[in-house]
Amino acid sequence: MLILETIAEIRDFVSKERAGGRAVGFVPTMGYLHEGHLSLVRRAQEECGPVVVSIFVNPLQFGPKEDFSVYPRDLERDSRLLEECGVDALFHPPGEEMYPGRHRTIVEVGGITGCLCGTSRPGHFQGVATVVTKLLNIVQPHRAYFGQKDAQQVLVIKKMVEDLNIPVEIVTVPTAREADGLAMSSRNVYLTPEQRAAAPILNKSLREAAGAVSKGERDVKKLVAMVSSGINGVEGASIDYVEVRSLPDLEEMEILEVPALMALAVRFGNTRLIDNIILGE
Ligand code: PAJ
Repeated sequence: MLILETIAEIRDFVSKERAGGRAVGFVPTMGYLHEGHLSLVRRAQEECGPVVVSIFVNPLQFGPKEDFSVYPRDLERDSRLLEECGVDALFHPPGEEMYPGRHRTIVEVGGITGCLCGTSRPGHFQGVATVVTKLLNIVQPHRAYFGQKDAQQVLVIKKMVEDLNIPVEIVTVPTAREADGLAMSSRNVYLTPEQRAAAPILNKSLREAAGAVSKGERDVKKLVAMVSSGINGVEGASIDYVEVRSLPDLEEMEILEVPALMALAVRFGNTRLIDNIILGE
């Protein structure tokens, strides 16, 4: 596996692959890889020729009080995992390679970034949209892979790619979960044993809501109350939001129209976990 740190090197690698007629797959990440990231890699390998993975902890998408400086990092382990998976190239640029000097341009997707995680993390989706635009321009893949785990993120990226005519196909990959249903996340390592034991309530209560929908429940307030009361019953869990929104425009609704996104963010101490389910699928 090639480990490349400069934009010139990754561009050179990809342009040779493209010239050879191969479809390039790209998986952008912030590292500290787990099975969720690797499921994106495997999907890319099924559908593409060479697969490029990027690891870059993007300062632009973290708020001033968020965990940028302490975000978990382990390049050695990550490279080993990617090598074992048969990834062709790892792009791991230093901060100055991505943001040399004063960076003045941001990409802002309107509307759908003003709710859910956009409300509790102001500026977050600007940071994501900006770095993903840069990465897509740098790598120039045929397809880029994103996880359903970050449901709003993938909707934002799809809209951005459509609006800005970025020549890439965005592929959404289902959420990879632990055996007890907890969505895999680099942030799960922050959880204390007690919090880790309690965290599967997120997926469990979302599945209960989906079960109620399949039995005919269409009252959004009742669905939200059902999920919220399940989570509020768990010590140490504090709800940031539980919401049902339309797809793909993330509009509010009172009477459920399916398919819809039920998404939540919950804090366990300082650790904020997110999860979601598509209702009516
Ligand atoms: P990161 O949190 O490292 O996630 C990288 C990719 O892995 C994202 O597309 C995310 O949705 C996906 N992913 C994470 N956990 C997953 C799981 N349990 N199942 C399936 N996919 C999962 O998301 C980011 O990084 C950044 O915002 C990024 C897009 C790289 C821009 O900086």
